[in-house]
Amino acid sequence: MAKLWGGRFQKNTDKKVDDFNSSIRFDKRMYKQDIKGSIAHAAMLGRQNIIPKEDSAKIIAELKNILRDIENGKIEFEIDAEDIHMNIEKILIERIGDAGKRLHTGRSRNDQVALDIRMYLMDEISELETMLIHVLNVITDLADEHTETIMPGYTHLQKAQPVTFAHHLMAYFEMFRRDLSRLNDCRKRTNIMPLGSGALAGTTHPLDREFVAQELGFDSVTQNSLDGVSDRDFVIELASCLSMIMMHLSRFSEELILWSSHEFSFVEMDDAYSTGSSIMPQKKNPDVAELIRGKTGRVYGHLMGLLTTMKGIPLAYNKDMQEDKEPIFDAVDTVKLCLPVFCDMLATMTVKKDKMLQGSKGGFTNATDAADYLVKKGLPFREAHAVVGRMVFYAIEHNKALDDLTMDEFKEFSDIIENDIYTAISMDTCVNDRKVIGGPAKAVVENSIKNARNFLNRQ
Ligand code: ARG
Repeated sequence: MAKLWGGRFQKNTDKKVDDFNSSIRFDKRMYKQDIKGSIAHAAMLGRQNIIPKEDSAKIIAELKNILRDIENGKIEFEIDAEDIHMNIEKILIERIGDAGKRLHTGRSRNDQVALDIRMYLMDEISELETMLIHVLNVITDLADEHTETIMPGYTHLQKAQPVTFAHHLMAYFEMFRRDLSRLNDCRKRTNIMPLGSGALAGTTHPLDREFVAQELGFDSVTQNSLDGVSDRDFVIELASCLSMIMMHLSRFSEELILWSSHEFSFVEMDDAYSTGSSIMPQKKNPDVAELIRGKTGRVYGHLMGLLTTMKGIPLAYNKDMQEDKEPIFDAVDTVKLCLPVFCDMLATMTVKKDKMLQGSKGGFTNATDAADYLVKKGLPFREAHAVVGRMVFYAIEHNKALDDLTMDEFKEFSDIIENDIYTAISMDTCVNDRKVIGGPAKAVVENSIKNARNFLNRQ
């Protein structure tokens, strides 16, 4: 079949090369952005009298028909036409002839593809933001129910100090809120209009780039034509934002998997979010959380792939850059698949408050509070630390918790200890006296939840 660029060629492309070269398989998903971009370009060409106004109008009208036909499934794209850009241009020319042949004036596929991918990713960023806001809402709602649900906090996966489940959840709120702000930032650098960069060196036609940017809702235009066609930083930046989202989802998933184990039993996934075993009748597996953890690998892989693809490319456009699409599309698709399923899994799981409370009690999670008790009675912290260390050693030997020690036993370690030690080291005090900003006390977490709601109402 004749190529749009066939003029200087004597032979047809080898069939294998057609298949190899063609990106229509995966870039057809940018059809809407391609058509929108072409409509703005055609409108500008007409306004600037670079092409006749009637031709501009014809092009615009037919592009709208093509868009409708694609959406109604009436159009089959062709491998031979390489990519979405040439497929659409070819259909346009078949339908309106010479006017259609004027569309590509002052434009190259190099700046066209840069435009399309920017527009496509901005649309995806908006969807990702909406999904993240949903995650933040689900986390906040769940936290609201658990400001009194005491659970052990860990360091080194060893019991450390008691917190509440709400406090733990709100830690993830902060992570996903940062993810949201990263996406927002990434949009700023994506929201720049490259059309007019041409193949690499701009054009002699008097294009009105600002007009095109305005038509398409971009903030500004790119400032260097070589960079305009060869910059894929925003793709890599988005892949990095997506990797970070997956990293957070994966950490959370890992916790939910651990907590679902018999050993922890802090939560139980809803039947609708678990699966069984083909051989072991008793099994209920947290597959959804595991799959999210597993899919993190492929998103990280895409980030590394993109960085590696771009690392040796001389200016300006090179065909290597066609390899940006599959990884970023898959990374976006993966995150869009994970976020909603994660939300629903979280919202439907059962939280076993009694097990969490029980878990918070073992392992001397109130040892720091015992030391702080001594500090408040005047002992320097390092000495208090040593005293409580000896107390813990004694309690382990006698198979007791700190709260189980009698007054006489306490007095053996320090005579400044009085009866109020028992309240001072109760789980309730350990949590609710930690009133420092960012702490787990009920009042503090309630305040975080209030701020979270205000933040979400502003989105
Ligand atoms: N399909 C190409 C891409 O995805 C855009 C076309 C530019 N190709 C070219 N040979 N100048 O990057």
